[in-house]
Amino acid sequence: MGEDWDDLADWWSTESTDDPVYAADVHPMYRELTSDLSGVIADLGCGTGQAMQMTGPQTIGVDLSMDLLSQAGSIGPVVRTCLPSLACFVDNAFDHAASIYLLDLIRDDAAFFSETARAVKRGGSLVVVMNHPVFLAPGSGPFADPDKEIFWRWGSYFEIGSSQEPAGHRNVEFFHRPLDVLLNNAAAAGWSLNVMRERPLSPQVLDAFPEFFGQDTIPRLLGLRWTNIG
Ligand SMILES: C[S@@+](CC[C@H](N)C(=O)[O-])C[C@H]1O[C@@H](n2cnc3c(N)ncnc32)[C@H](O)[C@@H]1O
Repeated sequence: MGEDWDDLADWWSTESTDDPVYAADVHPMYRELTSDLSGVIADLGCGTGQAMQMTGPQTIGVDLSMDLLSQAGSIGPVVRTCLPSLACFVDNAFDHAASIYLLDLIRDDAAFFSETARAVKRGGSLVVVMNHPVFLAPGSGPFADPDKEIFWRWGSYFEIGSSQEPAGHRNVEFFHRPLDVLLNNAAAAGWSLNVMRERPLSPQVLDAFPEFFGQDTIPRLLGLRWTNIG
């Protein structure tokens, strides 16, 4: 069962609009990976629907939170479901599927890849923008040496695991998989990788937040685009 975000809806509406990481880093990466997609596109974990505007009027927002879907519904059609299940959609329902900051919240990534491969037409794309697994591994984090140079502790990178991360007034469970697990599960479901992007926070975000000092060499965002060859 997925975690309901209804009690986080007010916080997320403000956070996703105001967070400079969205404007400087997340949306440019998403735009790059989706700009040539057209037709019926599923925005998985659409939240307030702000990315639905980027992928066009035939985008269908899919989310678990009624409160967030009621906002996304002013942008386009929406459907409530608990991902990774897409059982409410027939096979080949979509030309493409895309998501921002959703896969980290899904316990069963293999089911995410097999369900999207079933619901997206052969030749269609799957785009995922997410926290980089190096950033999200349980126990990972920055540390400074005596000269104040910033290094990254890998934590339990090679283990599949989860961590509780602060979100609004409570914590949310985030799921970590090393990159090889993610990419092999996607390949097993019939997703052929076309593009992979790994990015640190951009200079403008690093300049704006002193707590991120020195993290210009740390992977923060991961962007992936596959074609359905199953
Ligand atoms: C971090 S927010 C990202 C929202 C949106 N993609 C954006 O970038 O603004 C995560 C979204 O995923 C939704 N979500 C989390 N778990 C879900 C699940 N199991 N099924 C469907 N939606 C889920 C939440 O309700 C929330 O809208």
